[in-house]
Amino acid sequence: MRNLDREALISCLEDDSPEVAAALYSEAYRVKKETVGENVYLRGLVEISNICRKNCLYCGIRRDNLNTGRYELTSEEVLEAAAFAAEQGYGSMVIQGGERTDRKFIDKITSLLVEIKSRWPLGITLSLGEQTEDVYREWFEAGAHRYLLRIESSTRELYEKIHPVDAVHSYETRVQALRDLRKCGYQVGTGVMIGLPFQTAANLADDLLFFKEMDIDMCGMGPYLVHSETPLYACRHLIPDLERRLDLSLRMVALLRLLMPDINIAATTAMQAIAPDGRERAILAGANVLMPNLTLSEVREDYQIYQNKPGVGEDAAISSSRTEQRLREMKIPIGYGQWGDSRHYRKR
Ligand code: 5AD
Ligand code: SF4
Repeated sequence: MRNLDREALISCLEDDSPEVAAALYSEAYRVKKETVGENVYLRGLVEISNICRKNCLYCGIRRDNLNTGRYELTSEEVLEAAAFAAEQGYGSMVIQGGERTDRKFIDKITSLLVEIKSRWPLGITLSLGEQTEDVYREWFEAGAHRYLLRIESSTRELYEKIHPVDAVHSYETRVQALRDLRKCGYQVGTGVMIGLPFQTAANLADDLLFFKEMDIDMCGMGPYLVHSETPLYACRHLIPDLERRLDLSLRMVALLRLLMPDINIAATTAMQAIAPDGRERAILAGANVLMPNLTLSEVREDYQIYQNKPGVGEDAAISSSRTEQRLREMKIPIGYGQWGDSRHYRKR
C-alpha cells in the first residue's frame, strides 16, 4: 500500500481527477473486503429530541434558532422504533439527539437503555453530545456500548471559527470527552464535516491523522450543508460546490479505510442529501455502516440540522425498505442480526 503520510493525504484531497478518485475507491474497497469483509451493518437511527443547549454556528437545530419546532419523543415512541429495528433484523440502533444535560433527560435515557436491553438483543449506540464522565458511565452500565461524538474539525482554529468561543463550546472539552468515553469502555466514534468555510485540504488531512492518533473505533463524516437560519450561512460563498463536497467526502472515507482498515465507517445521510446514491457510493469507497432513519415521520421535519435533509415525509418502513433494496440491487451483503462491532475495538 502507498505510504499515506500527511503530504500524500493532502495531495489525494487536492486532486480532482475522476480517475484518481476511482482508483482510490477501489483500493479502499479491496482493503475493506480483506479486513472487515463486505458486509454492511444497519443501525436503526432514532432522533429522540431536537432540543439542544448548544449554539454551533452551522447547525439548524442550534439553541438560538427560534424558527424550528422543538420536540421530544416519548419513551414508548423510542421503544416502538427499537421493536421495528429488532423485527427488521438490524443488529443495532442509534439514539441521537441534541445536547441536553438535565437530570430528567439523563434518567429517561438510562431507563430506555435498560428497557431496550431487557427486550431485544440490540447493540445500542448513543449520540447525545458532551456529558460528564459519570453520565457516560451510567449509560454504559445501563447497556449502551458505542458512542458517537464528532470532533467536527480537529484543527482548533477552524473549530473555533464554526463554534461560539465560550465554555460550552470548548475544543479541549470535546477532545477530553472522547478520552472519557474511551475510559468508560465505549467503542468510540468521531468524525468531521467536510467542505466547511475556511477548511483546507491540510485541515482534512490533519483530521484523518487525528483519528489515527486518537485510535478511534468508528467514524461518521459527511459534507457540510448550509442552513439559512444559522450564522455560518453568511459564509456560503466560501465553500466548494456540492459535487466537490461529496467528492471530498468520498475521498475522506476511502483514505480513512486505507489508514485504519479495521474500523467501522458510516455512509452518512448528508452524502445522500447531495446525491440520491451518495451513501451507496460511500459504501463502494470503503464505508461499512449505514443508519436507516427510524424517526417518526411527524417530527422528521424538525430534525433539520441542514436544509433539504432526505427522508422528510417518509416513515421508518419506507426509509429502511428503500435502503435495503438499494443494497440488494448492488449485491452488497447485509449483516443482519449482528451487532457489527468495530474489529478495531475487539483487537484492542
Ligand atoms: N451540515 C452537515 N452536517 C451538520 N451537522 C450539524 N449541522 C450540519 C450541517 N449544517 C452534523 C454535525 C453533528 C451531527 C449531528 O450533524 O457534524 O455532529
Ligand atoms: Fe446541538 Fe449538535 Fe447541532 Fe451543535 S451540532 S447545535 S450540539 S445538535
